[in-house]
Amino acid sequence: MSSFVITGGKRLSGEIGVSGAKNAALKFMAAALLADGPVELRNVPEIEDIHRLVEILREIGVSVKQSLPHQYTIDAAALRTSELPSALAPKIRASLLLIGPLLVRLGRATLPRPGGCAIGKRPIDFFEHGFRKLGALVSEGEDAHVFKAKKLKGTTFVFPLPSVTGTEAMMMTATRVPGTTTLVNAAMEPEIVALAEFLNQCGARISGVGTSVISIEGVARLSGGEATMIPDRIEAGSFAALAAATGSDITIIGCNPAHLDVPLLTLEKVGVRFDVAGDHIRIKPSRNLQAVNITTHEYPGFPTDLQAPFTVLLTQAHGVSRIHETIFEGRLYYTESLKQMGANVVLANQHTAVVEGPAKLRGKTLESPDIRAGLALVIAALTAKGKSTIANAYQIDRGYERIEERLRTLGADIARLG
Ligand code: EPZ
Repeated sequence: MSSFVITGGKRLSGEIGVSGAKNAALKFMAAALLADGPVELRNVPEIEDIHRLVEILREIGVSVKQSLPHQYTIDAAALRTSELPSALAPKIRASLLLIGPLLVRLGRATLPRPGGCAIGKRPIDFFEHGFRKLGALVSEGEDAHVFKAKKLKGTTFVFPLPSVTGTEAMMMTATRVPGTTTLVNAAMEPEIVALAEFLNQCGARISGVGTSVISIEGVARLSGGEATMIPDRIEAGSFAALAAATGSDITIIGCNPAHLDVPLLTLEKVGVRFDVAGDHIRIKPSRNLQAVNITTHEYPGFPTDLQAPFTVLLTQAHGVSRIHETIFEGRLYYTESLKQMGANVVLANQHTAVVEGPAKLRGKTLESPDIRAGLALVIAALTAKGKSTIANAYQIDRGYERIEERLRTLGADIARLG
């Protein structure tokens, strides 16, 4: 198990490139199983969650070739089992996205208990109900769900809540199910739009993506194809929070500012000075940051994945900020670690944190609870005076590629131990 050792309190400077989007690449890899030919993906981040999914795909007989870093060619022609490996599948929530392709190709899918970040209960009832509506039989055993496709047919499915992977799972599966499928109250994230565009290039007939009603006409086959991952908006937003919290002058390169409208508006309200030009966002040293309220919301609202990094920024802002986490019920517990570092933060309830700043943070020994809170602790450690150790670096490596090397190019004093 590796840890990061960080000495903070320094202003950083320089340029940092943004990786391809984790939450696009994972889904493109799953969707590749629906194609009757090889799929080449580029700008794929070399992160642990991608590596886990590659292991799962290879374990079930899918060919995954890596010609260059960040480039994968996937061919499901030799797919040999519908049983997802119980030792691997629970490591990532994205395993859920393999159910549909397995149902379409093999008529069956066995899913061990799903995993992912410990940010809440993470139920899968939308998947159970959605696949049942498509005509699958779903049974829940002790340690696995079994999905069987008697006869899949198009349907209308209403999501009780906009679910990102739920929308992606139903959308990609419906491309190969006879008839018309309509998804109501669908999620609208840019990664979902990118996925639909790719599937349409392969012969799918998806319309309405990027709105809350998506319609899919099933087709008999999808051809292989190629795609380049869109920039990771959550990584870009995390770096922006890092730059602002440490009073640094950092230019974020290769991002898509149009995917960050609300986070950028939030930075503006905090009083962070920044310029946006093309695919660059330059965060400039800003003083006298002001408290703001943040409420997380499905896209295009404030992303829950940026809640933790921005909360660290707000510990440095003058005044009282309220952070309302509406998406997950377990995504504010990292604030306890911020309190230990000297932040003035209380949890009003499991959905609301109140932060009063500015507070001087001191280095501490911490543990990364999940991907985004882990990066938030890195930001806090770089903001704090003194030395911090952040254990369980794997959680951060799940979502951020070679993070310590990239931060060192900005002048950060960060090293990996173990
Ligand atoms: C995706 O998770 C992302 N993960 C998460 O990013 C992200 O935080 C989340 O969307 C919200 O944007 C991937 O794309 C791999 P949801 P997902 O289904 O799809 C409830 C990261 O750090 N729900 O949109 O699992 C759920 O509990 C990760 O990159 C059900 O009730 O989230 C939540 O309250 C963390 N039943 C709400 O819906 C279900 O069957 C939205 O969750 C499914 C979800």
